[in-house]
Amino acid sequence: MQKHNTSGKLITFCGLDGCGKTTLITMLNEYLTEQGYDVLLTKQPTEEFRRSNIFRSVQDTPDHIGYDYRAMSLMAAGDRLQHCFNTILPALEQGSIVISDRYFYSCLANLKARGYIQDKWIYEILSHAVKPDLAFFLNIDVETALKRVRSRIDERDTYINIELQYRLKSEYEIIAGQYDEITINTAQSISDCFDAVLKHFHNICSSAVA
Ligand SMILES: Nc1ncnc2c1ncn2[C@@H]1O[C@H](COP(=O)(O)OP(=O)(O)OP(=O)(O)O)[C@@H](O)[C@H]1O
Ligand SMILES: [Mg+2]
Repeated sequence: MQKHNTSGKLITFCGLDGCGKTTLITMLNEYLTEQGYDVLLTKQPTEEFRRSNIFRSVQDTPDHIGYDYRAMSLMAAGDRLQHCFNTILPALEQGSIVISDRYFYSCLANLKARGYIQDKWIYEILSHAVKPDLAFFLNIDVETALKRVRSRIDERDTYINIELQYRLKSEYEIIAGQYDEITINTAQSISDCFDAVLKHFHNICSSAVA
């Protein structure tokens, strides 16, 4: 990945659905905004890509009729790279703290968990991505994550491939080790998790302009 050499900071959060990303991102955003930082909250893949037929098909159907997962993933990786250049980098150049809900690590974990381990193109694309200053992997057991997702009224009946969640967890753990992500166990209380996030933020951000 490419170091950005700007005065901003890029902070990313990845992990299973229901691991606690939105919860911690919201708390961090509130904290930083109160402290006077300029914060950009953003998300990968982008909303435009999430609305595409190919993404919705893969997300919402168990059999992925008519689509190759890799085709979707390649398009998502392109969307992520473009998002780095048209959204993340300009904000970093303005000195903002950019917080991304999911990042390339999610793309990689999803490909590997589906058995696409020979595909080299993802690493080529990854090499051009902006390197986060702080990359969090929120780790949680699959059962708890599922329980949290299922507790949302509108997701009680959403299709979830449970076997895939186990493989994803294991790939996320490997990737966290390979790419220097900081692992936070989100079976801890929300406030303990947030304290850990803040501790790491203060470590890297002592030079950021408040
Ligand atoms: N550390 C925690 N301890 C207990 N409950 C938590 C913790 N973190 C999050 N939760 C709860 O788990 C649920 C899911 O959290 P959240 O929406 O933040 O997950 P997410 O990773 O953003 O999920 P998704 O990937 O589906 O967007 C929420 O009800 C939240 O209150
Ligand atoms: Mg979320």
